[in-house]
Amino acid sequence: MNKYKLVSLVLAVALLASLVTVMKQRQTTAPVDTASVVFKNIYDRRSIRFFKDRVLSPAQVDTLLRAAMAAPTGRDRRPWRFVVVDQRAALDTMGAHLPYAAMLIKAPMAIVVCGERTPRVPEAEDLWPYDCSAATENLLLMAQAMGLGAVWTAVHPYPDRVALVKRVLRLPENVIPLNVVPVGYPDDPAQPKRKYDRDNIHYNTW
Ligand SMILES: Cc1cc2nc3c(=O)[nH]c(=O)nc-3n(C[C@H](O)[C@H](O)[C@H](O)COP(=O)(O)O)c2cc1C
Repeated sequence: MNKYKLVSLVLAVALLASLVTVMKQRQTTAPVDTASVVFKNIYDRRSIRFFKDRVLSPAQVDTLLRAAMAAPTGRDRRPWRFVVVDQRAALDTMGAHLPYAAMLIKAPMAIVVCGERTPRVPEAEDLWPYDCSAATENLLLMAQAMGLGAVWTAVHPYPDRVALVKRVLRLPENVIPLNVVPVGYPDDPAQPKRKYDRDNIHYNTW
């Protein structure tokens, strides 16, 4: 057998071997069932109020914010503004004065989800709270998916809480804090709640 025939034969065998490997991999790798993965993430989310003494990386925070900003908004206005807080003094002040947010004192950081008011739109018709709520849920779900924990602590619509957070974070007049979301590595035995209730569902008419 001449040199060229030998090289061709070796190449053909190598090609066949890699084809067989790919075929085997296809047979053994189960297809990813995206719906099941997403459903489990949603279903298993829980509010986390106790955190390990461990900080998040800038990349993790970036991922959370990207997920938040993927939410739907009325007229695609995207009125959300986010303040990432990791300064101890600010976390402690908010934790001490917001009535149901004491966990901030032990949290490594928090994301404050704020909405910018729409100019010339009456307050009752301004959709920013809904837009920012959708963003917050995305953030909470992303935290769950990343093995992190978080909890929505309410600010808007309580005027005293809004005033406190605006003062601590030096927010502009037209930017309203919806909530403060502490985020960290969970140190919390909280179990997901099962909330499905058929009685909440009506078909066609009540
Ligand atoms: C609008 C809103 C306000 C909330 N405010 C607070 C709060 O101030 N402090 C707190 O610890 N949890 C707060 N939560 C979290 C709820 O207590 C929690 O979602 C609820 O108990 C259900 O538990 P789960 O999130 O683990 O399913 C709030 C949640 C929402 C949606």
